[in-house]
Amino acid sequence: MTDNITWFSGIQIVPGLFTVENLSFAQNFLMKDDDVILVTYPRSGTHWMIEIVSLILSKGDPTWVQTVNSHTRFLWIEDKDSQKLLKGPDRPRLLATHLPIHLFPKSCFTSRAKIIYIIRNPRDVATSIYHIRKYTPNVKIPKNFEEFLNAFIHGELLYGSWFDHTLGWLTRRNTENFLLMSYEELQKDLRGNMQKLCQFLGNHLSPEQLDSVVQNSSFSVMKDNKMSNSIRLKNPEDETDSNVPLLRKGRCGDWKNHFTVTQSEAFDKIYQEKMSSLDPGLFPWSEV
Ligand code: A3P
Repeated sequence: MTDNITWFSGIQIVPGLFTVENLSFAQNFLMKDDDVILVTYPRSGTHWMIEIVSLILSKGDPTWVQTVNSHTRFLWIEDKDSQKLLKGPDRPRLLATHLPIHLFPKSCFTSRAKIIYIIRNPRDVATSIYHIRKYTPNVKIPKNFEEFLNAFIHGELLYGSWFDHTLGWLTRRNTENFLLMSYEELQKDLRGNMQKLCQFLGNHLSPEQLDSVVQNSSFSVMKDNKMSNSIRLKNPEDETDSNVPLLRKGRCGDWKNHFTVTQSEAFDKIYQEKMSSLDPGLFPWSEV
């Protein structure tokens, strides 16, 4: 379902996004003890978490998030533009990645770098990716949701299979310096989860500062903030830029507006087969 695409170790190499050399740079990247790295499968709440952590580190002051783009605040270890900046001396570093665990820098696991991993109901992830795919240069737009869902189930997407990504990363869940969070829990109790995050990051915020983090990372405030609600992607074929909006609906359960009953039943069956090795209690969505 994609044009101009080659595969590398289970993920797709889309011209203009990253190359095999960029992936190799990421795999060999030297993580440091004071690095913080946010890991997600696409459309799981990455930019929401970037905003929350940025605001926590600014003690609730919104100036940084209002003046610096989220992709400059957090550098992507697989992104070619970020990689140029990663060679610089700035520390401590705030990093992000969508890479599956087998392509992640091995040096991280012998360092004290902190990993935040966010999960989200894969049905909502699929729905969210379906809506954003039209903005990705060089990716063929699926004919319809059925065709897209089939590709999602088989992992025929940029970062490969959601199932493999989640199963791989959750092997780290009981290790030190690994914080597991979910989009659904953030929706349910943003403030409580921010307190957990502050503890994990070693930051203490006053109740007023926390109020400001909650307020400034809300869906409506982020949607109006150009520094948080867009990324610029270059189409390598004609060198044109496109501005991709990152915030869409910001709700749990939008998948119910897209999946037919048949699609939902088929997805449940595959989900059960693939995820049976893990305790369903780990996942804060009701469908198994
Ligand atoms: P939807 O497409 O379901 O709306 P990522 O940053 O990993 O690409 O994730 C994008 C998803 O997170 C989108 O989901 C987006 O709307 C949602 N999102 C971003 N900021 C949010 C916020 N402040 N509150 C709730 N959802 C948010």
